[in-house]
Amino acid sequence: MNLQGKRILLGVTGSIAAYKSAHLTRLLIKSGAEVQIIMSTSALDFITPLTLATLSKRPVFSDFSDKKTGEWHNHVELGLWADLFVVAPLSANSLAKFANGLCDNLLAATYLSARCPVMLAPAMDLDMYQHPAVRANLKRLSSFGNTLLDAESGELASGLSGQGRMMEPEHILAQVEIFFARKKDFQGKKVLITLGPTQEALDPVRFISNHSSGKMGLAIANAFKSRGAEVFLVAGPIALPLNPSDFHLRNVKSADDMYRAAQELHPKMDFCVFAAAVADYAPAQVAPEKIKKNDAEMSILLKKNVDIALELGKVKRPGQIHVGFALETENEEQHAKGKLERKNFDLIVLNSARDTGAGFQHDTNRVKIIHQDGRMTDSGLVLKSEVAEMILDEIKKAPVWI
Ligand code: CTP
Repeated sequence: MNLQGKRILLGVTGSIAAYKSAHLTRLLIKSGAEVQIIMSTSALDFITPLTLATLSKRPVFSDFSDKKTGEWHNHVELGLWADLFVVAPLSANSLAKFANGLCDNLLAATYLSARCPVMLAPAMDLDMYQHPAVRANLKRLSSFGNTLLDAESGELASGLSGQGRMMEPEHILAQVEIFFARKKDFQGKKVLITLGPTQEALDPVRFISNHSSGKMGLAIANAFKSRGAEVFLVAGPIALPLNPSDFHLRNVKSADDMYRAAQELHPKMDFCVFAAAVADYAPAQVAPEKIKKNDAEMSILLKKNVDIALELGKVKRPGQIHVGFALETENEEQHAKGKLERKNFDLIVLNSARDTGAGFQHDTNRVKIIHQDGRMTDSGLVLKSEVAEMILDEIKKAPVWI
């Protein structure tokens, strides 16, 4: 009964997976939640309101008003009542409405009115789920701060097999429980996170960079944010959906820009996480005009960039915690421990470039988190969001954390 007293709005839209919303309702009610269901008009073709009303022990709403009694179902009040709004299943059609602010039914209007966090569990056929229009809409909703409960893979109602099935009700319940159980243990703390690659200009149209996606840094940012911290991001060029209202964001390009932005923020911070893949070298000269291809060979003279973590490590004040990253290909622990010492980190997160499914561009990662006193935790291959939570838990074990 760990959802006792929690108020959940459950939106059900027109998808064959709507039958699973009955099971989800049952699970939420059994866990102690109060559940108010709103169905989109087309959801009524897939499951009856009677089933959902019986399971949720409340009348189900689908119209703006009750045609018989004239009773008005106030979408603003519904939106304000809830602690959490879960839409499961979310059809491609309702997704498109939410992404574009359309509100031709009660459910879509409530989505626009809700002030509480929103979780969305899309369900659709394989090719629909992969269509660029759907991907763009999902990305848009994610950029609004909505949590996407990614569709699962398996056999689909169409007979095709692949990703598109609504997340299983038990898994959705687990996400809801995690949401409510979330600790606010970083409340009132300020954290600076550098993330993404840097770009070092060669001429007006070219640069040197690397494959860092910024995903790990953003996962850490999200974890800090949801655990109550005020998060300052200094981000190299990344293409990730992030909710601008969740973070103080400084977009930068080169290592020098990143250093200046981080240096300015550093004195006020409680924690600094150096997750950026900063280019170690930059062209010694930036050509004022586009470099022409005249010769069969050309060389570029590179100069060493500022080491942001090293420089800020020198001015770390007592009580401040610095977390570094190390991506290594050989003698991994030894190299990581060397960086930990040299850059005055409290802990270092070691990525091995040899682990499959880990590192740049992947959604998963496998890391070892090493403390200054040598204590070490191996995450195993898990989602970057889970690695992020572990890093925060390890930060709390650092001796300077009180
Ligand atoms: N780092 C930084 N500024 C740099 C280089 C690295 O802030 N110019 C930070 C990274 O964000 C990371 C840590 O230092 O937290 C280690 O980065 P890494 O690239 O693994 O180490 P380097 O010191 O660059 O050593 P090498 O490339 O020789 O392994």
